[in-house]
Amino acid sequence: GKSGYDHYMRKEINEQPSALRECFRGRLDELSGRVTLEEFEGFELNPPVTFVACGTSYHAALFGAQLFREWGVPAHAYLASEFEAETMPIDTDSVVVGVTQSGETADTLRALREANAAGATTVAVTNVVGSSAARETDRVLYIRAGPEISVAATKTFASQQAALTMLAAALSNHRSRDLVRELRSVPDRIQSVLDEDAAREVASTYADASAYFFIGRGYHYPVALEGALKMKEITYKHAEGFAAGELKHGPLALVTEQTPVFAIVTGDGRRAEKTIGNVKEVEARGTPVVAITDGRSEVGRYADHVLEVPSAGEITSSMVANVQLQRVAYWTAHELGRSIDKPRNLAKSVTVE
Ligand code: M6R
Repeated sequence: GKSGYDHYMRKEINEQPSALRECFRGRLDELSGRVTLEEFEGFELNPPVTFVACGTSYHAALFGAQLFREWGVPAHAYLASEFEAETMPIDTDSVVVGVTQSGETADTLRALREANAAGATTVAVTNVVGSSAARETDRVLYIRAGPEISVAATKTFASQQAALTMLAAALSNHRSRDLVRELRSVPDRIQSVLDEDAAREVASTYADASAYFFIGRGYHYPVALEGALKMKEITYKHAEGFAAGELKHGPLALVTEQTPVFAIVTGDGRRAEKTIGNVKEVEARGTPVVAITDGRSEVGRYADHVLEVPSAGEITSSMVANVQLQRVAYWTAHELGRSIDKPRNLAKSVTVE
């Protein structure tokens, strides 16, 4: 049941700390900084790594592909519905990873089947033991999030981010005590976000907005896309996520006083600085800005509201920042009286192409 919550979505958002602890269990070694995935013993990595996925899982795949690249392994994510093995160099040397919570999404299964037929090594990153994706691939990495009932994916996205970070570290032989330590602290950092009310206030302030925009760069770009998808799914309002640098290439024309822009900016590095430049352009037009930030940069100065994330590296901060956006979407839908767990026109698992 919903254990006293109004909606499964709220329950599942709040389950993220425990879901992540379960995802990490037995896989992280703090002393050596190594990630050990039993499932991948003896696995020979043959770059590039090709990801296929849909919806929220595609956002996780974008995040995973970026991690592989960061650690020296060429990787690319495709929307499963746009992936056609025959139009790409997929052969017996290829590694194709399907990211799918349910393991039953038709587009993703079709892409994996084509990859199998071309002789590729296939991998499923999934939540459901014994799912079609798990049965039809060479290796399976379970994200261990527990059952997710709400149509909007929440805890499974966090667990996909975590599992893909571990997969990228393990397969690229990336060893880092800092990373392992940071991963371990994600559940507590998410808990600190769950314990405060700022997201609810922001949601009620902007419940009448005509549209919502989300911007981020680097690891925060997939989170911007995910923030927008969550918002449109459960509020039925127009929401778009952009790479922060793309704003000025067109989307800026959409920005008005009625369209809050959510900017994810953590750390004080080059990426943060550039995104702040994009935020300034928005702010100069009188558009409300909500900064999702750890306060290490000056982005707060240009923001009407700040949603805090505890300070850490960009990779794990993106996991925490995403929870703030899940909560803004949830409370906005709540304010609007939407059918949060079962949004109109949508199904939990999409079994047609
Ligand atoms: O089960 P999957 O991860 O393959 O599902 C993929 C998408 O259908 C799914 O993520 C969808 O976008 C969610 N409703 C998003 O909240």
